[in-house]
Amino acid sequence: MTTQNDAPDVPGFAPNGPYDGAGSILSTIGGPADPNPPESLGAVTPESARLLEKVREDAELAAAMPYNETKPLEYGAAALTPHQGEVRRPDTPLATASTTTEDIASRKVGDGTPGIGADPLAGPLDRVRVDDSGRELTTNQGVKVADNQHSLKIGLRGPTAMEDFILREKITHFDHERIPERVVHARGAGAHGYFENYHDLSSITRAGLFCKPGKRTPVFVRFSTVAGSRGSADTARDVRGFATKFYTEEGVFDLVGNNIPVFFIQDAMKFPDLIHAVKPEPNNEIPQASSAHDTFYDFAGLSPEIFHMLMWVLSDRAIPRSFRTMQGFGVHTFRLVNAKGESHFVKFHWTPLQGTHSLVWDEAVKVAGADADFHRRDLWEAIESGNFPEWELGLQVFTEAQAAAFRVFDVLDATKIVPEELVPVRPVGKLVLDRNPDNFFAETEQVAFCIAHLVPGIDFSNDPLMQGRIHSYIDTQLSRLGGANFHEIPINGPVAQVHNNQRDGMHRQAINRGRVAYEPNSLAGGCPFQAGARGFASWPEHVEGSKVRGKAELFAEHYGQARLFWNSQSPFEQQHIIDAFRFELTRVQTPAVRERIVAGLANINARLAAAVARGLGIPVPAPLPRVNDTPVPDYPPSPSLSLLFRPGRTGIRTRRVALAAAEGVDAAGARELYASLLRDGAQPRIVGQRLGELSTASGRPLDVEVSFEATPSVMYDGLVVGPGDASAAALARDGRVLEFVRDQYRHGKPILVIGAGRQLLAAAVIPLALPDGSPDPGLFLADEAGLAAALAAFKAALARHRTWARETDPPRV
Ligand code: HEM
Repeated sequence: MTTQNDAPDVPGFAPNGPYDGAGSILSTIGGPADPNPPESLGAVTPESARLLEKVREDAELAAAMPYNETKPLEYGAAALTPHQGEVRRPDTPLATASTTTEDIASRKVGDGTPGIGADPLAGPLDRVRVDDSGRELTTNQGVKVADNQHSLKIGLRGPTAMEDFILREKITHFDHERIPERVVHARGAGAHGYFENYHDLSSITRAGLFCKPGKRTPVFVRFSTVAGSRGSADTARDVRGFATKFYTEEGVFDLVGNNIPVFFIQDAMKFPDLIHAVKPEPNNEIPQASSAHDTFYDFAGLSPEIFHMLMWVLSDRAIPRSFRTMQGFGVHTFRLVNAKGESHFVKFHWTPLQGTHSLVWDEAVKVAGADADFHRRDLWEAIESGNFPEWELGLQVFTEAQAAAFRVFDVLDATKIVPEELVPVRPVGKLVLDRNPDNFFAETEQVAFCIAHLVPGIDFSNDPLMQGRIHSYIDTQLSRLGGANFHEIPINGPVAQVHNNQRDGMHRQAINRGRVAYEPNSLAGGCPFQAGARGFASWPEHVEGSKVRGKAELFAEHYGQARLFWNSQSPFEQQHIIDAFRFELTRVQTPAVRERIVAGLANINARLAAAVARGLGIPVPAPLPRVNDTPVPDYPPSPSLSLLFRPGRTGIRTRRVALAAAEGVDAAGARELYASLLRDGAQPRIVGQRLGELSTASGRPLDVEVSFEATPSVMYDGLVVGPGDASAAALARDGRVLEFVRDQYRHGKPILVIGAGRQLLAAAVIPLALPDGSPDPGLFLADEAGLAAALAAFKAALARHRTWARETDPPRV
């Protein structure tokens, strides 16, 4: 026996008769009075020898722990330092075995060698991937199914037999295939990847994933919308969830964030109210996946802490071009804690290398009809094609003293950012998503994130919104995933070993060895034992105060950062915010509810309030009374709050380009353009009026890949009108094509036309100059000679993504 503590050694052999006490060992009721085991159980068989050996080993292990040595460490000052649990390691696995028969092998139970200290559930997902190639169809009991086309009938025209267990198993499983969708964030898509750490951050955190340069940690990320049901459209105006599960060697760390750095409310107590207000109204379940209705704005106008978030949600941030072009934020202030127990506050930021790009509202609405899976498809296609999306993780790290010195806002208030001008964002690693899931349900639907999944070195702050979330996630997953064991679902299991005394519950998969499921114990040598200083220990913040319900003073300031956001937007982004408020509030039916919101906007910016009021046909109301006379802080504009601040580093990679072509196209020219775009990583497609071969003005016939009908303009980031006079003329006679061109123009997309293609622009009434008369930097008219330069300029515009200078209020096209 290996002991870590000095313990008295244990019994020898029966001093009396060799069989004394044998009956007690053969029975499971009552132990022998004599602590010394018998020498024999009578019949000498391998089984009886093992039973005797187990009894001896059990006794030895238990006796090695005559009392609970670490109990005094649970009290007073000693309790402040976590201590390791007492451990005794037995000489043989038999001592902690559930049964003496555990080494009897079979194809079902395995080779009979006990996996001492092993948790096979922590193994790679390969262990549960199932492949049917070359396999016969079976029932869930593994019985081969002879006929999967017919139910069992009494005669070909007779009734179905009750005994058809194959039919019943199949239909019963089908009947139960749906699980409750998430109560929020029901619609989403996910992918696997890794996080690669850049620097040794051990001076601020002991979390292993951040301590070694180059260290890779596997991750699973799920992006989502908040309000819509699981089948709603991807492009609804909404916050996007950005949840990352890091499978670290020290356990799972979930960073459950959003694509917007602030939140609607300041206290978890309000979350059910917020969600009840934004979800479809309960009387008629309208509208789906939209905040544009009375109950949401009724709640909002009466909860002025929401105004900063409203500015973000009504900006283009809430209609991203792609999950790949969104930032992500941990939102709350977290703590990092190093090995010396020193703590810093931290805010987490994800920055997409693809840049921050959004849709325009008119486009988002049309995409919802054209492709409800727009974001899900985009993520899937990018990963399948090897264009692995990447984000850089940045940290804003600051001390409690710095936080106190911010003075005009409280870092525990989730409706406030820490401006980057006050604390810069320091890049610490990158996230790469390089593998799509095998199975949407098994992985993306069953993944269970939780803000309470932390690893040593990362800790909570007292943000009252965050504190409520710590409870909510596991609680909701207990009903969503059907019981206490959803942590064993393969996608949720850590790569770290799981050893504890939790047992039983619905759908338990682990077969825990041994008879001990409690602590302290001596019968399992004290195992699993508490890890002491190696384990998670909450940062010992000193807290004092009365039990109260309320908010701290600085939480009462609601408009300063909303104004900061507004002042940091480019003119076109400001116009989009105005347009969004007009759209949303026009859909509100109750005038007083509309007015309250405009009155709130009057506290942010007079032009904003006036423009929204004009759209609603109402005078600007008096500003909403502020909750106290704290002056609204005057922040300098923060350029990083504009989407233009991060154009991205991936150029035109994955941008979709329509190459419009009809009968008479110059196929050779079209092919050259196509190849050039493809070489630079864009995704060109020959779009035509119908599928099939086009007769061509030059070169081999050209195959149309997809029709204008099947993929309207909103499915593309740019348009090239293929060369060829007859082709251009045919396109210019087609109303659908003209609508296509107009939408490309209206949505700010680059357009390249060659030669006669310009008649298409004329037919679609596209202005060739910007409203101020200057040349349109996204519109390229080329002839044969200037084509190379025009194509290069088109690609540059495609990389910039949009020509915002085209926009006017109201739009010209
Ligand atoms: C008190 C406030 C909040 C409560 C009570 C709450 C509650 C919930 C619940 C019940 C779910 C569904 C979880 C599931 O079924 O697996 C959920 C999902 C989610 N929440 Fe929250 N939430 C709160 C605030 C926030 C905030 C502030 C953020 C962003 C920082 C956020 C981000 C997310 C994300 C990203 C998901 C989706 C996770 C996934 O992809 O499965 N939540 N939340």
